Amino acid sequence: MHICSHSFPSILHSQFLEMGVFIVAAIFFMQIYITGAKVPAVIVFGDSSVDAGNNNQLQTVLKSNFRPYGRDFFGGKATGRFSNGRVPPDFISESYGLRPYVPAYLDPAYNISDFATGVCFASAGTGYDNVTSDVLSVIPLWREVEYYKDYQSKLRAHLGIEKANTVISEAVYLISMGTNDFLENYYSLPNRKSQYNVTQYQNFLANIAEWLIKDLYTLGARKISLGGLPPMGCLPLERTTSFFTGNGDTCKDEYNKVALVFNQKLNGLVERLNDELSGAKVVFSNPYAIFQQIVRKPSTFGFETAAVACCATGFFEMGYMCDQYNPFTCSDASKFVFWDSFHPTEKTNRIISQHLFKTVLSKFSS
Ligand SMILES: *[C@@H]1O[C@H](CO)[C@@H](O)[C@H](O)[C@H]1NC(C)=O
Ligand SMILES: *[C@@H]1O[C@H](CO)[C@@H](O)[C@H](O)[C@H]1NC(C)=O
Ligand SMILES: *[C@@H]1O[C@H](CO)[C@@H](O)[C@H](O)[C@H]1NC(C)=O
Repeated sequence: MHICSHSFPSILHSQFLEMGVFIVAAIFFMQIYITGAKVPAVIVFGDSSVDAGNNNQLQTVLKSNFRPYGRDFFGGKATGRFSNGRVPPDFISESYGLRPYVPAYLDPAYNISDFATGVCFASAGTGYDNVTSDVLSVIPLWREVEYYKDYQSKLRAHLGIEKANTVISEAVYLISMGTNDFLENYYSLPNRKSQYNVTQYQNFLANIAEWLIKDLYTLGARKISLGGLPPMGCLPLERTTSFFTGNGDTCKDEYNKVALVFNQKLNGLVERLNDELSGAKVVFSNPYAIFQQIVRKPSTFGFETAAVACCATGFFEMGYMCDQYNPFTCSDASKFVFWDSFHPTEKTNRIISQHLFKTVLSKFSS
């Protein structure tokens, strides 16, 4: 202000002064508010629904770091994401104003400076149950958490303790797994089925989810999203199986019901943990309803089909069976809900992520 204050009567002077103090204070508090609300990083635990390429570094058959995987990703790069492009954490990170992708912790192309704003510990083929990760020799959940502890030490060394602790407590933690526990493990192998009926198995898995959230809380996490299961009976692989067992070209109802009941249990768990864990905000990110709508009426969302996948014949292939020499792979993945027989296309991932961000996850930044 260029006006000389002494040329005003003193009452006006003091009003100006007060207003000035008020404005300075307002700006100051606004900055605190904005800084406090900002999400500094997205940290991911889970399976192939969110893996950004950790499996590339493992001795497992469950990989996707080759074409046509990633053909619609930045630079057309096959990163190890099980899709033609991005997976949900990538879109969610972008929605928080962070990088438009979340790199994998084991990817040698990135280091702690990159991971300071987002990191993915997920591993395709894993689950809540240790037995699930053993099926295809992938990273068990407990080891994802060990990697996370290792990350915390590196982050503290890199940013200093105070700054690192702020990142740890203000970051959003995304947890997404469970489909493999049922489809790859419980319904495919005799071990767990001989020990638990499906209700007991659901409870067993939900208890592990509870352990995970409490463990992350103890380690400093405060903004946690627990992901629900999709209508897993509608994955093309399950539809194909259903077709060959005489059910016609429909979703496998039994699996969808199991997913719905499991989601109810997770939702109850989230409500309970919000009471128990003081200072924490735990949310349930449930993709079921929107996914079900997409599968039932793909045309409403601009898709041509949800019954078969883009890759190869679309009935059963994924991973190495879905390679660039397969002549049947579609040319435009955006017409398909599913990319391979088990995983959505980038377009489906985008729709679901935007829906979850709008309805649930945006709360973490306001
Ligand atoms: C991370 O890698 C970048 C280049 O890729 C390099 O400039 C930076 O110094 C590295 N940071 C650390 C902490 O190693
Ligand atoms: C999974 O394995 C880890 C490491 O052996 C163990 O600490 C953990 O208790 C196991 N989890 C369950 C639910 O058995
Ligand atoms: C599973 O076992 C429990 C305990 O034995 C029993 O109460 C429950 O009815 C069973 N559930 C199913 C779906 O069979």
